Amino acid sequence: MLTRVVLALCCVAVALADTPANCLYEDVRGTWTFSETERTGDHTINCDELGPIVHTKTFTLSFPNVAKDELNNEGTWTMIYNQGFEVNINERSYFAFSYYEGDMDSAVSYCDRTFSGWSRDKTIRNWSCYTAQKLNKTAPRVTYNNLKALSTRLYKNDHKMIEDINASQSSWRGKAYLQHESYTVEEMYRRAGGRRTIRHIQPKPAPASPEQKRRVAALPENFDWRDVDGENYVSDVRDQGACGSCYIFSSMGMMEARVRIATRNQRQDVFSPQDVVTCSKLSQGCEGGFEYLVAGRYAQDQGIVAEKCNPYKAEDGPCNRDLSCELTYVSEYDYVGGFFGACNEEVMMLALVENGPITLAFMVYDDFMSYSGGIYHHTGLSNGFNPLEVCVCDVLCCYRTMYKHAGRVCDTNHGVLLVGYGVEAETGEKFWSVKNSWGPKWGEEGYFRVRRGTDECGVESEATQVTVIP
Ligand SMILES: *[C@@H]1O[C@H](CO)[C@@H](O)[C@H](O)[C@H]1NC(C)=O
Ligand SMILES: *[C@@H]1O[C@H](CO)[C@@H](O)[C@H](O)[C@H]1NC(C)=O
Ligand SMILES: *[C@@H]1O[C@H](CO)[C@@H](O)[C@H](O)[C@H]1NC(C)=O
Repeated sequence: MLTRVVLALCCVAVALADTPANCLYEDVRGTWTFSETERTGDHTINCDELGPIVHTKTFTLSFPNVAKDELNNEGTWTMIYNQGFEVNINERSYFAFSYYEGDMDSAVSYCDRTFSGWSRDKTIRNWSCYTAQKLNKTAPRVTYNNLKALSTRLYKNDHKMIEDINASQSSWRGKAYLQHESYTVEEMYRRAGGRRTIRHIQPKPAPASPEQKRRVAALPENFDWRDVDGENYVSDVRDQGACGSCYIFSSMGMMEARVRIATRNQRQDVFSPQDVVTCSKLSQGCEGGFEYLVAGRYAQDQGIVAEKCNPYKAEDGPCNRDLSCELTYVSEYDYVGGFFGACNEEVMMLALVENGPITLAFMVYDDFMSYSGGIYHHTGLSNGFNPLEVCVCDVLCCYRTMYKHAGRVCDTNHGVLLVGYGVEAETGEKFWSVKNSWGPKWGEEGYFRVRRGTDECGVESEATQVTVIP
């Protein structure tokens, strides 16, 4: 079994995005045995190969986010999208990716077990490796992706689609970006978040509580971290290039803004996405990953370095961490709402205004690539670019597990940074203001606005926040 784990881990690097695991809430909920190796003080602990097991613990994970041990001590847990799960209990935190065999084209997820993962105490001093096995078996989940032929031909603007965008609605406008034609279709796909296993479920926004609604009523109608009483707390827009590192740029953007807010702009750090691309074992570099694991767990466990310490190259490579570089850490991280599946418009507005910019996940449809300004909503127009589009939000995909709300369920692929919200004066249309990582020449000086309050393209389904130690 060990050989298989190591083999499968080696292949994460060549898979085309995230990991192929497709594990759902209902697969993971239940009772698990965690088998842990000896605890050490070494945070560079290598968990690729699991050493001898010295403790086993039984944890029961139940609705909505309650974890309990054998003695009924309570903690919390959360899914990380469909990739794995984190358990926080008895002052320790455990994370491992769910087990799978195969690759992005065809994989079998064994959601009742995990790869070897990382456990450490709350003070980040006491480390071990572990694997988890669910007591009750879940059926292996087979995922086929119809994405084999991602083209290496150059991307072409579809002028007819852009005309149709302009003609079909007046909320936003499209334009042809010449710079997009320097990327291949596959590279453009990567810029938009890359491949993700299809047919998984993105939670619908959770219903807002009366308390959340009351607090939101006291917020301003328009708010933006780029202009709080004339002060800008958001760092400059960057360009991720042909690397699927959107989730790292949104993570670094959140940390940069939060350092600025905490220091009243005394510190204006720019952090290094490249260091995360090459050094984080909690994500897949240019092939994708998740803000919860990067801005959250990785920034807490290993820290983040400055851009000048490891300048951006937009490609995977070996980890060469300069040990003389200063590190910035986070003390807390969370899904907005408390766990994956608890997000909604209200908690996003509260987290944004009270604490600073938050990352969010968003489905990039074909028409979005050509966005030039206004308040975006998906027009349904397509140039056949996104091979996921046939499935996303069609009836086959639209079933759910956690909350049984009616309505369609959107997938998400792109990680971006929420910096503000407002209401359009003329039309009354509510919007979010979002920082993208496609350079300052795209959209509204690198930003876009998107419809708010209707979970447009999954925009209200998944958000993360961290507390930076400035
Ligand atoms: C696990 O399986 C046992 C025996 O089949 C069953 O009684 C129990 O309800 C199951 N537990 C869960 C959490 O599904
Ligand atoms: C880690 O914690 C365990 C108790 O959980 C303790 O026995 C051990 O000495 C600690 N090791 C280090 C290096 O802190
Ligand atoms: C769409 O409208 C925008 C803004 O008015 C304009 O710049 C662009 O050229 C139009 N594109 C097409 C193809 O009509």
